[in-house]
Amino acid sequence: MNYITLNNHVRIPQLGLGVYKVLNEEVSDVVSHALKVGYRSIDTAQFYENEEGVGEALKRSEIPREDLFITTKVWNSHHGYDKTLQAFEQSLKKLDLDYLDLYLIHWPTPMYDKYVDTYKALEQLYKDGRVKAIGVSNFHIEHLERLFDECEITPVLNQVECHPYLQQKELKAFCSKHNIYMESWSPLARGGMLEDETIQKIANKYNKTPAQIVLRWHIQENSIVIPKSVTPSRIRENFQVFDFELSEEDMEVITKLDRGERTGRDPNKMDMI
Ligand SMILES: NC(=O)c1ccc[n+]([C@@H]2O[C@H](COP(=O)([O-])OP(=O)(O)OC[C@H]3O[C@@H](n4cnc5c(N)ncnc54)[C@H](OP(=O)(O)O)[C@@H]3O)[C@@H](O)[C@H]2O)c1
Repeated sequence: MNYITLNNHVRIPQLGLGVYKVLNEEVSDVVSHALKVGYRSIDTAQFYENEEGVGEALKRSEIPREDLFITTKVWNSHHGYDKTLQAFEQSLKKLDLDYLDLYLIHWPTPMYDKYVDTYKALEQLYKDGRVKAIGVSNFHIEHLERLFDECEITPVLNQVECHPYLQQKELKAFCSKHNIYMESWSPLARGGMLEDETIQKIANKYNKTPAQIVLRWHIQENSIVIPKSVTPSRIRENFQVFDFELSEEDMEVITKLDRGERTGRDPNKMDMI
């Protein structure tokens, strides 16, 4: 496993398991399997309603707490300073943890204009030692710029939709200039990338699966990546991406697949609360 050192010196595994849309009843077995395979980073959210099941699996595993990296996110309905602090306590309780590794604002929802106050609550939690690192998700450049103007602490990362069809190059360059890592959500475009003929050809050439090629591309792009699967064989397959390297030419071929195509919502249009 590769580790990335974030701007506050905290280390995060470069590859973790995402558990969006995994039911609370099934998530515990899914996470337990991933931990057995070697995953140490789990990405959940208040919105996923499966933090309890994630917590059960962590407890069952008996892996030392300091070896785990647990991320959760405050949902749009809990923006604002006080509501965010409450949401944090609820998440921590459900996860049955004493502290979080990473707490994110799930979406900026700029139409409600509360993400600055929300971020100030994250800063307080960080200063109080309740969370090892704070960051954002689905933030455009203009949202990050506002945090720079009105807040104190630079987010460690921005978790955004990213895969070969949506590479977010301008945002990535901006983040990189400000020492903010990009974390790719829907790194496989929810499975859509795996049907791509170019990816399939490269997979044949390396004797790897399309998912492994796409995940390896993210790793070599120096992004943090959190593929989701509930299928034991795929959870293992997605983890086996550190024993080969894509050539510069093949990286370039994949980079040319960019077509600005989202599978999810544009953050400026996400108004769900
Ligand atoms: N911050 C945000 O707003 C946000 C938004 C979306 C997602 N996320 C995070 O990012 C994580 C990943 O994104 P995602 O779940 O949307 O999509 P994804 O990881 O790109 O794709 C998941 C889909 O691909 C399938 N899959 C996974 N590995 C595979 C393999 N090796 N071969 C074939 N199919 C495979 C899965 O099927 P099975 O599960 O059936 O195996 C599932 O249908 C989420 O779980 C969540 O933690 C964050």
